[in-house]
Amino acid sequence: MNLRALRIPLISTGTLCIFAFAGALTGLVASPAQADDDACTARSFKVKKVEDACKKGGRTAAKTVMKAAVKKAKANGEKVNCKTCHTDIKTTFALTDNAVDDLKRLL
Ligand code: HEC
Repeated sequence: MNLRALRIPLISTGTLCIFAFAGALTGLVASPAQADDDACTARSFKVKKVEDACKKGGRTAAKTVMKAAVKKAKANGEKVNCKTCHTDIKTTFALTDNAVDDLKRLL
């Protein structure tokens, strides 16, 4: 009886440690200097600005370029969001047919 009661707190402390460790790792990966783990999937680019951003800061930097484009579109009174140009905005960032032309126009 007593043993089991003791074991549960032990396990949860261990689990917490693992989470803390994973959190620390995620923090590292998110920093621009460690961009490799967040690298863009595209190997050839059509938009120079995106290529430069991807090379320098991976997807994090690419997203900054994207956000600027969305902002500019909105300032023009256009209804644009990530899904206007990407059929998937979680893993692949696959492009819609209009994506490249639209982006060039907005940079
Ligand atoms: C106007 C169209 C457009 C909008 C809006 C847009 N994107 Fe993009 N995005 C592109 C294009 C085009 C590329 C690929 C550029 C190339 O191939 O040179 C791209 C590439 C990316 C990439 C790099 C993908 C990779 O790994 O190769 C990410 C990440 C990304 N976009 C995120 C976003 C996010 C997040 C948003 C919303 C804030 C967004 N995009 C909005 C057109 C757009």
